Amino acid sequence: MKLLIANWKSHKNSQEVLDWLESFKKEEGRIKNKNNKIIIAPPMSLVGVVDWFSREHFDNSVREKINLGIQDISPYPMGKYTGAISIKNLEGLDVKYAIVGHSERRRYFHETHNDVANKVAQCIDAGITPVVCVDDEYVSSQAAAIKQEHLEKCIVAYEELSAIGSGKNEPIEHVQEVFSEIKKYFGETKLIYGGSVNASNVQDYLEICDGVLVGSASLKVEDFAAML
Ligand code: PGA
Repeated sequence: MKLLIANWKSHKNSQEVLDWLESFKKEEGRIKNKNNKIIIAPPMSLVGVVDWFSREHFDNSVREKINLGIQDISPYPMGKYTGAISIKNLEGLDVKYAIVGHSERRRYFHETHNDVANKVAQCIDAGITPVVCVDDEYVSSQAAAIKQEHLEKCIVAYEELSAIGSGKNEPIEHVQEVFSEIKKYFGETKLIYGGSVNASNVQDYLEICDGVLVGSASLKVEDFAAML
């Protein structure tokens, strides 16, 4: 079972999300027949739109294959944290996965390793699987901040900074080296790769790991569907 995660970042409005899903629905046959799990992570304000569409328009066999993800979560529980979306706020929505600690969160929003560890804890307590993004350089300190008992419950996404959104995907040999390093800290967890993945290179990565985190090539249905 391979994971294909569509990380739409801050792209799309509600109409564009509906258009994407309408077109993606045409791929139902291919979605059902492959041993893949697709995770769609829209902007937070559009999570409800994807959830609604999925309940209304996908039958159960497709819904098993397409899961809802979020791109971030508050490190705090429900309470007085203006502007933050807590896990509790998502109750009633069929969210199964949460990307946490994406390098763009750490770079532009100054998230620390402790913030990421707290987000991981929020997710695990709520039964949502965290997809923790790590860098080659910081993997040991990132892992050190996360509670020991949470490490093996994370899916770990290795994303090399220079590969993100650049069209320069990381060479397989280096990805394998970093995966060995990650295993030292996270143990036998699922490992995925992200950074300029597209239809022409996805197979190479799926041969060495459990899935891919896809940004740019997930925005257009035809590019994403080509990866199926
Ligand atoms: P990219 O983004 O596929 O555009 O490189 C991946 C990511 O940042 O998750």
